[in-house]
Amino acid sequence: MIETVDPIGMTKEKKLKSALTFVKAQLKNETDTLANLANISAVINMYMDDINWVGFYLMKGGELILGPFQGKPACNRIEVGAGVCGTCVKEGKTQLVDDVLALDNHIACDSASRSELVVPIYKNGTIFAVLDIDSPSLARFTELEKKYMEELVKILEQSL
Ligand code: SME
Repeated sequence: MIETVDPIGMTKEKKLKSALTFVKAQLKNETDTLANLANISAVINMYMDDINWVGFYLMKGGELILGPFQGKPACNRIEVGAGVCGTCVKEGKTQLVDDVLALDNHIACDSASRSELVVPIYKNGTIFAVLDIDSPSLARFTELEKKYMEELVKILEQSL
């Protein structure tokens, strides 16, 4: 077990840095991808406030299938191009959505979700999975979260 530091009293950026520190230690200690994704979703949930869902969807047989997560039960499968996650796969780049209700094709797994950040995870040049984070607040995610979550994913990609 890797120790975590209590996030109470930390600044937003300090929490994100602590999450990255944990992820580096996790990946150094464990090679099993499922165990790593499970603990990474738990640590993001611990260090990021005002979120209602965080987890991974994995590309399997040409569609996204639910992986390790924290939050309410979610959709099992998402087609490429559908919702924010499927759009992330289609476009191959991070999606930062301030207001999910303004989108035509948002998939509401949890009706509380208002904004969303989705980062693609690559393995050997193709998308292996996406990291999806939802918040009940409008415009919860900024360039700060985007930067740190993209950095986290880069570290994760080195272990795949
Ligand atoms: N809202 C996502 C679907 C996944 S859930 O939020 C966990 C989307 O539009 O892709």
